[in-house]
Amino acid sequence: MNSKIFEQFDISTLGFCPEKCIENLPEPFEIYTELANNMPIHIGIAYRNYVDATITNFTPVQELELVNLPLEHIKSLYSKLCMIINKYIWCDHPNSFTDTIPYFLGRPWLFAADKLGISASLTHAAVDLYNWKLVVPNKPFDYSPKPHETSAQINLLNVMNIHTMTGSNDESWFYLVMIVIEMYGGNVLSCFNNLVDLLSHYYDLCNNNNNNNNNNNNNNNMDIDDTHRKIMNEDIAHDMAGILRTTAEHLQKMTMTVNKMYQNCDPEFFFNKLRVYLSGNDTNGQYFPDGLKITGITDRVIKFKGGSAAQSSLIQAIDIMFQTEQKMVCPHVKHYLQDMHQYMPRKHHEYLEYLRENAKVFSVRDYVETTGLCVKEYNKCLDCLAAFRRAHYGLVEKYVLRFVQAKDNVSDTNTTIDTNVHGNKGSGGTDPVVFLNNLIDTTINSKLCAATNDNTDNTDNTDLDSTIPNSSVVTTDLSKLWLWYVITVIFAVCVYRIL
Ligand code: HEM
Repeated sequence: MNSKIFEQFDISTLGFCPEKCIENLPEPFEIYTELANNMPIHIGIAYRNYVDATITNFTPVQELELVNLPLEHIKSLYSKLCMIINKYIWCDHPNSFTDTIPYFLGRPWLFAADKLGISASLTHAAVDLYNWKLVVPNKPFDYSPKPHETSAQINLLNVMNIHTMTGSNDESWFYLVMIVIEMYGGNVLSCFNNLVDLLSHYYDLCNNNNNNNNNNNNNNNMDIDDTHRKIMNEDIAHDMAGILRTTAEHLQKMTMTVNKMYQNCDPEFFFNKLRVYLSGNDTNGQYFPDGLKITGITDRVIKFKGGSAAQSSLIQAIDIMFQTEQKMVCPHVKHYLQDMHQYMPRKHHEYLEYLRENAKVFSVRDYVETTGLCVKEYNKCLDCLAAFRRAHYGLVEKYVLRFVQAKDNVSDTNTTIDTNVHGNKGSGGTDPVVFLNNLIDTTINSKLCAATNDNTDNTDNTDLDSTIPNSSVVTTDLSKLWLWYVITVIFAVCVYRIL
């Protein structure tokens, strides 16, 4: 079941990352590998001149050659062209931008994007999901290479990038952190499959019991059935608690990885250099009033939002599984996250639909609420998701908000060269303070109250982030207060009567 579902939605053991990315494209696509490899060598406008001069020696690839390209090659072509084209548009600085790209680049770009069912823009899929290789092949992604096994290029665990636009280690690290998070996410998705399997087993059991009870109303075997059912239910609760605990562990690894961003990605580099490339072209009329144009293609207006890991299918999958998504009431947040689907490969956002349908029928939350079992494990997962979002918010403060505020405080902005094409918005176009805090609050508010018959927890339930208010604890404390109040009143009345 697991492998079939994964295959259907183009998910691998590394989650939404493929099992392997193609580094070098075959003839006649080799030229795109070359243009991508040379991005770091040509600085500023020199890159556009280099591309223009190089492609005059080539005829554009034929439609048939594109059609015959295998899917894994199309992913690679898409990734390379997204980066080549963004480098070509911006040439490292907003002052150098152009809104027109050559047919030679634009045609295969649109083809690859359409084939994958994703926007033609600098997406999370382009720079992260399809842009990595292993440092030591045949070792897992989380293997730590020995010093003699690593190359000079930067790596996070056993993962390094295929391309960067600037050649900087900071840019590479920015992608690597997200890639490794996605890879840990592969384990989270496996847990989700196991949860769905377990719940379908549970509901089968409930249905069978109902049928049996209807068929054999006065059956002598009733006791045996009940005992058997009790054991089965205990087994399911035990397994459910185990899967939820494993999910929480992987979520914690994702949070630890978010915090690694600070190690090798300089905030100044991110804000002043890399963010230019993450700008998109439908948020700021100053640069692309008519969208992006491709020479020779007139029937397509190309408008897109800037690159952001908000385009990750992983975090949305987690929201769906834990039904945090259903608690999202703010229409802007809902609309924005839905809008992100066009920036995900088609099969990945189809997976989100599949998961949503399944989560309605086989709902972990419903199971936990109705049985009162596994509440602590369920809440622990939400604590971990909230901790992930808080850690992420820490990045936004350090890499974006700090600079925006500093800029606001400078009276004469003309004295600095302005590379901030986003104003006080995130690269994906939101007001990050409102947007991200709304999601943190929603995650915390999705926690369930503790129930009395939950015996499944035999682990340390220390909160990952003790600053996160735990609604179940608050509820329990209030009910205790109430009980003390009643006891005190009864006691006072008794004393009064005796006297
Ligand atoms: C320096 C690093 C980062 C910065 C500055 C940053 C910035 C932002 C901003 C401003 C947003 C709001 C949407 C927008 O307008 O773009 C956002 C959303 C988001 N980012 Fe990041 N981000 C960073 C790293 C990451 C990493 C490593 C991940 C992990 C996959 C990630 C995942 C997300 C997700 C899932 C959202 C959607 C909101 C949510 O579901 O909580 N970001 N990010």
